[in-house]
Amino acid sequence: MRKQIAAANWKMNLSQSEADSLLNELFQTAFHLAAHQEAIFAVPSIYIHQTKAKLAGKQNMYVAAQNCHQKNNGAFTGEIAAPMFASVGVKHIVLGHSERREYFTESDALLAEKVNAVLAIDSTPIFCCGEPLDIREAGNQNIFVEAQLKNSLFHLSAEQIVKVVIAYEPIWAIGTGKTATSEQAQEIHAYIRSVFASKYGQSIADQISILYGGSVKAANAKELFSQPDVDGGLVGGASLIASEFTAIINALQ
Ligand code: 13P
Repeated sequence: MRKQIAAANWKMNLSQSEADSLLNELFQTAFHLAAHQEAIFAVPSIYIHQTKAKLAGKQNMYVAAQNCHQKNNGAFTGEIAAPMFASVGVKHIVLGHSERREYFTESDALLAEKVNAVLAIDSTPIFCCGEPLDIREAGNQNIFVEAQLKNSLFHLSAEQIVKVVIAYEPIWAIGTGKTATSEQAQEIHAYIRSVFASKYGQSIADQISILYGGSVKAANAKELFSQPDVDGGLVGGASLIASEFTAIINALQ
């Protein structure tokens, strides 16, 4: 059974004490995650230590990084390497978020290097893809997303690709309050799975978790997650509100 995941992406938000309060409030609820379900917290790197401490002893809950450098070490002031994250117990790293692609000009080729760096330390890349509004309006979202996947992931072996989690995040739905309908999400998630099936075969494609991101909230999570090819969500704004993210975790199927 493939993994169902509720992943929080805090982005560049919260002070240390606000982060602490959010986690305290969140863990007033006792979560009962099934063996195939996970909750992941992609926090600003400076809060990884404190978040990891809060998650200690909690089943199927992990702290994640929001990005890493493609090299393992070197003179790259201000950057953090994948092996450094591994050394503090981080096993999941978000890569290729549309904000990084846009504001930090991350290309498909660079992301292929970052994916390699994360897999090399036996961690899970949470690989983001998704189209801007003009591409969606022209009906070209499938071609656009397929190219992102091919350019950054198709060099991987079948053994490696099953370790990657995909997060489909249409840019027009991020932080806009405008969510893709569950039909739109299902349609493109199924397409993404078919892209992997054509390269790696159906049984490998069926093992890859594909998360939806873009204005996921308590009110729409259940409906989105009930779609057969939507395996959970990558959540921005609503992950900063304890009651919202609690409901989103509980909406996992
Ligand atoms: P919102 O949930 O705020 O739309 O952000 C989605 C996102 O970018 C998660 O990575």
